[in-house]
Amino acid sequence: KILILDFGSQVTQLIARRVREAHVYCEIHPNDVSDAFVREFAPKAIILSGSHASTYEAEDLRAPQAVWDLGVPVLGICYGMQTMAAQLGGAVEGGKTREFGYAEVRAHGHTKLLAGIQDFATAEGHGMLKVWMSHGDKVTALPPGFKLMASTPSCPIAGMADEARGYYAVQFHPEVTHTVQGRALLERFVLQIAGARPDWVMRDHVEEAVARIREQVGDEEVILGLSGGVDSSVAAALIHRAIGEQLTCVFVDHGLLRLNEGDMVMDMFAGKLHARVIRVDASELFLRELAGVADPEAKRKIIGRLFVDVFKAEAAKLKAGTGGHKGASFLAQGTIYPDVIESGGAKTKKATTIKSHHNVGGLPEQLGLKLLEPLRDLFKDEVRELGVALGLPHEMVYRHPFPGPGLGVRILGEVKKEYADLLRRADAIFIEELRNFRDEASGKTWYDLTSQAFTVFLPVKSVGVMGDGRTYDYVVALRAVQTSDFMTADWAELPYALLKKVSGRIINEVRGINRVTYDVSSKPPATIEWE
Ligand code: XMP
Repeated sequence: KILILDFGSQVTQLIARRVREAHVYCEIHPNDVSDAFVREFAPKAIILSGSHASTYEAEDLRAPQAVWDLGVPVLGICYGMQTMAAQLGGAVEGGKTREFGYAEVRAHGHTKLLAGIQDFATAEGHGMLKVWMSHGDKVTALPPGFKLMASTPSCPIAGMADEARGYYAVQFHPEVTHTVQGRALLERFVLQIAGARPDWVMRDHVEEAVARIREQVGDEEVILGLSGGVDSSVAAALIHRAIGEQLTCVFVDHGLLRLNEGDMVMDMFAGKLHARVIRVDASELFLRELAGVADPEAKRKIIGRLFVDVFKAEAAKLKAGTGGHKGASFLAQGTIYPDVIESGGAKTKKATTIKSHHNVGGLPEQLGLKLLEPLRDLFKDEVRELGVALGLPHEMVYRHPFPGPGLGVRILGEVKKEYADLLRRADAIFIEELRNFRDEASGKTWYDLTSQAFTVFLPVKSVGVMGDGRTYDYVVALRAVQTSDFMTADWAELPYALLKKVSGRIINEVRGINRVTYDVSSKPPATIEWE
């Protein structure tokens, strides 16, 4: 396995993703772990990430000495390159000019890392790479034993290597997709230079994960909050595979789910997998408490609080034990690796809350239950692969994300049952047609070509005409976006034929809606959801 030391860059997670995509297991840990930790981890190789800080000033942001004592290959990226230079006897200086964005880097000589990797050649025959740069400081003198590996006019030492020791460093970011050969470069480092075996595959991981759950749980019982989302569904399927009847899933139906969603969840888990699932129909409670509340944040808080209350009441019953069950002692959660990194890495934490996402942190302590988190080492795409390996249907595992407060934030202003019912039917039509329409060039459906798509209910009425009569009905907006990280997003350029079909069907089939609009706002400045 590979150790990635995080110096606080916002893209450290991407390094781990690229390494995992090469089917090599890796973990991210803070840069200030102890020497003993590094030795015990016994990495095949170490990657030093970038940082916000400047090496030049930050004396405390160094790699542990063990990194250099272990005798394994090390790759420094951006700040990681600078600290490598500083710690091994080179020199780093604060740059007068910051370099940020696209750059073309010349690859020098033949290092194992860059040999034969290029995007184009200059007229003189120099191999060039198209890369992404983001730095102020730069290395100004190579440490002893190193040779120059890459350069740009403004950054004469943009890459360096000491091949005898297996040390490589680049000033640019191979982990971001803007660096065209970045993936190839990281893959080469972990597979060829470090000699790691590409044996991290989900099929094998199932057996390993099942064994680990059995060992951790023994003959005790487990409660899991099932939401129908990808993470909790995969966690449920995995734990059920491991311990069967010892697992009880609690599915809180807040009445703000998509059309037939509750039934589909029950059908899959209780029906097909024969898992023990308790469905709590709390829709009336939620609607009652939401009556008269129009403010989005107030609605989120109410939904989050009620959700926790209902779940806690159910969990308390299960903890006490019911009908043939002795009582649960574990609470399982579908926490995934990005959640773990985010809550641990205060360094990279976003400062402002644009929207408060409801979370259930602290629940295990309050309930006096031990925590079981079988997905905490996995990225989202790995969770999906695992779901498929466990036999969950493709549509469930590759579903667009759905916010915890559900339709509660897709009905603008006050939530009413009448609105939710209209919205559910309109949204189901939109999603059905997205799955029906294929893009000819790629052969993919528009559902798969968009990252998130949904319908928003606008509680305003507009005039229409239907047959001989005038109508005065509600309006919905369709929203479809493409994004890789949900921090920024572009509205999707859906084919007109698809929009036409959807609007025609909604207006004809959903009595009460007589106008359909398409949202053409990008994020930022708009957000993906309307509330
Ligand atoms: P925005 O609207 O902020 O959404 O651009 C970004 C992503 O977050 C989801 N989202 C939520 N998820 N609880 C959630 O669990 C929430 O309150 C919430 N608000 C937004 C949104 O669906 C999108 O994927």
